[in-house]
Amino acid sequence: MSGAGRGRPTVALVGVHGYGRLHLERLLARQHRGEIDLVAVADPVPADAALEGARQFPALDDLLAVHGPEVVVVSTPLHTHADLAGQALRAGAHVLVEKPATADLPSFEELLALSERTSRWCQVGFQSLGSAAVEHVRERVAGGRIGTVTGYSAVGCWVRTRAYYDRAPWAGRRRLQGRVVADGVLTNPLAHAVATVLAVAGARRLQDVVEVETDLFHVNDIEADDTSTARIVLGDGLDVLVAVTLAAAEQGEPFVTVTGTAGSIRLFYTLDTVVEETPGRPPRVTRHERVDLFDDLLDAVRTGARPRSALREAGGFARVQDAVVNSPAPRAVPAEFLRRHDLPGGDVRWELPGIEEAVQRAVTRRRTFSELDLDWARAAR
Ligand SMILES: NC(=O)c1ccc[n+]([C@@H]2O[C@H](COP(=O)([O-])OP(=O)(O)OC[C@H]3O[C@@H](n4cnc5c(N)ncnc54)[C@H](O)[C@@H]3O)[C@@H](O)[C@H]2O)c1
Repeated sequence: MSGAGRGRPTVALVGVHGYGRLHLERLLARQHRGEIDLVAVADPVPADAALEGARQFPALDDLLAVHGPEVVVVSTPLHTHADLAGQALRAGAHVLVEKPATADLPSFEELLALSERTSRWCQVGFQSLGSAAVEHVRERVAGGRIGTVTGYSAVGCWVRTRAYYDRAPWAGRRRLQGRVVADGVLTNPLAHAVATVLAVAGARRLQDVVEVETDLFHVNDIEADDTSTARIVLGDGLDVLVAVTLAAAEQGEPFVTVTGTAGSIRLFYTLDTVVEETPGRPPRVTRHERVDLFDDLLDAVRTGARPRSALREAGGFARVQDAVVNSPAPRAVPAEFLRRHDLPGGDVRWELPGIEEAVQRAVTRRRTFSELDLDWARAAR
């Protein structure tokens, strides 16, 4: 195997454009530091960056016929993950697959079984799970800092424009050519919110999630949801309320909250920042280190330690995804409730005025959008 003699792990990347471009840059930087050998990449579209000795193949099969990389990074459309990660595992590689690991629950279960049968790690790219902040929150909660936990929530108010959905044929789709894609707000753009709140709640495995109720809407002209709530019932009887949108007035920092009888703890998971609030005290703000999930995977391969975002620990998320996939089609919010913004270059952004307040009410009152008295939710078809 190329590079193995020099003791550096050999690595291949599948998907070099879009988010894969970021993986490529990071892998090349590691190669410059002498940490890895990037032996090859696979993508049907030629790379537009210098590959510095790595050979490009049109498909992963062709790559694996020539190279036997120790680690394969998969950053391709959601509905291709299961096949590509499966091929890499079968070829004996450890895998870092972008989130979500698979597009549906049967593929998740198959991939998990394969990872266990081949004794190869499959790490899922929920990068917030590489943060020490998650464990910090769990320790503070377990130490009784906010009393007895009464519930968990996750909130995300983001902005996406028409160009986001026009960038790829799978964007905003529930299915494509007979395959599940599940590119809705809960399962892709704000999937980190769901995965992180489940991690904070200690509900990362399949059996930890008992029931999921979804309430899905779309503001953009897409098949999948972009404005949704979900109520996730956990094995310990507590629940998680998730309220998210891609039709906010402006991009806001998403966060997860643990609420207790004597205070609350909030994790701003893209910032690794935790704010603990207890009555009569000033907020306690802490910032935490984050380990990159690729480095964490290499470390797991080297030491035998469990990686921080192993596939099995994405089981709780897979249950939520399964509920979304099997939910009735998201309902369209009528145009009379929306505000259109025309952007330079012909792009368009649709805003749902008041959605920020609705998201906040949903998590405070622990209600789905349909359970709140919202005109747009009542009128949605
Ligand atoms: N972790 C994060 O914060 C984050 C952020 C953005 C995207 N992502 C994830 O990254 C992944 C890719 O998203 P994207 O928006 O870049 O997708 P994309 O469709 O823009 O690009 C994917 C790349 O994969 C290539 N590709 C498609 N099918 C392939 C195949 N069978 N074999 C090899 N290459 C193939 C495409 O040519 C393209 O270069 C998704 O899983 C997405 O959820 C993660």
